Amino acid sequence: MLEIDVLTIFPELFPPVLDAAFVGIARDKGLARIDVHDLRDWATDRHRSVDDAPYGGGPGMVMTPEPLIPAIEALAGEKGPARAAHVIALSPQGRPLRQARLEELAAEAHLVLVCGRYEGIDQRVLDLAVDEELSIGDYVLSGGEVPAMVLVEGLVRLLPGVLGNPESALRDSFFEDLLEGPHYTRPPVYRGQSVPEVLRSGDHAVIARWRRQRALERTRERRPDLLPGDIDRKDRAEDVEGD
Ligand SMILES: C[S@@+](CC[C@H](N)C(=O)[O-])C[C@H]1O[C@@H](n2cnc3c(N)ncnc32)[C@H](O)[C@@H]1O
Repeated sequence: MLEIDVLTIFPELFPPVLDAAFVGIARDKGLARIDVHDLRDWATDRHRSVDDAPYGGGPGMVMTPEPLIPAIEALAGEKGPARAAHVIALSPQGRPLRQARLEELAAEAHLVLVCGRYEGIDQRVLDLAVDEELSIGDYVLSGGEVPAMVLVEGLVRLLPGVLGNPESALRDSFFEDLLEGPHYTRPPVYRGQSVPEVLRSGDHAVIARWRRQRALERTRERRPDLLPGDIDRKDRAEDVEGD
């Protein structure tokens, strides 16, 4: 069971994503526990404040150490070797999230996800209470809630027992550093475009080879950066050309 606690000032954004599809199935099956907490519940003033003006001036507000640090510590314990949970702050300045990191995180027992808002989070929160910062891409959103949902979606489908057919995760993009090739379903001809004959041949070995070739081609065209090393890249290119 993967346990996830999310800290946010917008808990109302989460229910549809947590209740539907595979995330809902994982929770119903007891494979994941996901709880969303309102950061303002840890605020101590009557305005339930979570932000203040930045030192040094500048636009916008910054999320303050209180109530954020007490909230994180209530969910994860104090930072250090005794802490059982792994605390992740979603941030455009974090390490870019990759499938390989998702696979590692899916093996954790307990994650705490911290959603930033405003101009971001006071650096002391990151230093004193956060274990890792993750970015979902090189662009800026208004808050960490959608990035946290991205993380939850990506993690949950990796948990054993969630996907109906576990093999589908092994065919997905980024498995073995490849993008997945094209899919087709009925009808066999649509607006003059036919499904490749090989997919209707019933020959599973030929189909598997065709799929791998298309995956290699697509990766080479769209994401050559995924193909590691010159030698490997050459081998894979030959693999495609030899098709
Ligand atoms: C408006 S953004 C703050 C951007 C910050 N001033 C900067 O320039 O890096 C507010 C919050 O949205 C979240 N966020 C925005 N873009 C993100 C991204 N690409 N990945 C992860 N979190 C993001 C973070 O939690 C961030 O604290």
